[in-house]
Amino acid sequence: MKDVVIRSSGRYLPEKVFTNDHFARFLDTSDEWIQERTGIRERRFAAPEERNSDMGTKAAQQCLERAGVDASEVDLIICATVTGDRIFPATANFIQENLGNRTAWAFDVNAACGGFIYALSLAYGMLASGVNRRALVIGSEKMTSILDFTDRSTCVLFGDGAGAVLLEAVEPADNPEGYGLRNFVLGADGSLAYKLWQPDGGSVNPPNPDSLARHGHYIHMSGREVYVNAVRTMNAIVEDVIAQAGLTPEQIDWFVPHQANKRIIDSVRERLKMPEERFVVNIDRYGNTTSGTIPIGIDELYTENKLATGQHVVLMTFGAGFTWGAVYLKWGDPLAAG
Ligand code: COA
Repeated sequence: MKDVVIRSSGRYLPEKVFTNDHFARFLDTSDEWIQERTGIRERRFAAPEERNSDMGTKAAQQCLERAGVDASEVDLIICATVTGDRIFPATANFIQENLGNRTAWAFDVNAACGGFIYALSLAYGMLASGVNRRALVIGSEKMTSILDFTDRSTCVLFGDGAGAVLLEAVEPADNPEGYGLRNFVLGADGSLAYKLWQPDGGSVNPPNPDSLARHGHYIHMSGREVYVNAVRTMNAIVEDVIAQAGLTPEQIDWFVPHQANKRIIDSVRERLKMPEERFVVNIDRYGNTTSGTIPIGIDELYTENKLATGQHVVLMTFGAGFTWGAVYLKWGDPLAAG
């Protein structure tokens, strides 16, 4: 088995900012309600002509530039998304084209807010087993393409954006400190699939006038049930992955949680008795970018030089499916020059 390290990260957020007041102009809602119930102040929405793959490409390009790796040297490209450019081919293929890579195998992972952790775990498996050497793992979403702007209980929650990491396999002998991705907790419960979903637009109900009339191709959510399950599951998996790593919560330097609701993040943090400073939060500025939240959070730590070699990091998520996952990693890059 090889070790697998994160070499670099990148992110892209669309330029245009929409504050909560924007929604109060056409919906029965308020800045106060949204901030108090979700922690969201504003979010970014992509321009109509801006594709999901454009955002994912920009995040991926940043990764490659920062690691000094050429796109042609990547063997695997996974894009986690539920708002891909097309039903098929995969958005990862369009990103691959944009990057100028013509050989990597490339596909999308559809696991909603669980997507990035699922994709990261799959890439880990391919690199640790020695099948591939380098992988780009991208989480990219154009949530505005499936938001119902007449439904105040969902449209205020989400935003557009992308994040990415570049993974590389290293020989354990060259990585005596054991940097990289180390422990994984992954799961799903399909019996709760209907609690958060896009009912129409797939092969059960291809787009048709009826589905358009009933807004079936937009997000539908039982918010309360998602909330309760998210808190319960995130608590369990974060404790599980830390125990698997042989650590205690106090030893974790950074938690990078999925950003669905600041109150969900706070209740996980409070149960762990952790200070706010150890939890990455970007929901206030970006809303819930679904597959994007965690790689964007990693990139915030990375670009703000907050990640020190040897630090312990936990990533955790919960989303539609329901899907969930947590990863423990030890930050460090034995391949970095100098
Ligand atoms: N503005 C004002 N009122 C709103 C509103 C909005 N944007 N959205 C919902 N409400 C209303 C509801 O209609 C309801 O009114 P009612 O009591 O008259 O029926 C009231 O606020 C309370 O609704 P409820 O759903 O109980 O609120 P909540 O405290 O659970 O907060 C969510 C709602 C959606 C913010 C919360 O349930 C949540 O974050 N759920 C998880 C979402 C999530 O994680 N999604 C993605 C998973 S990855």
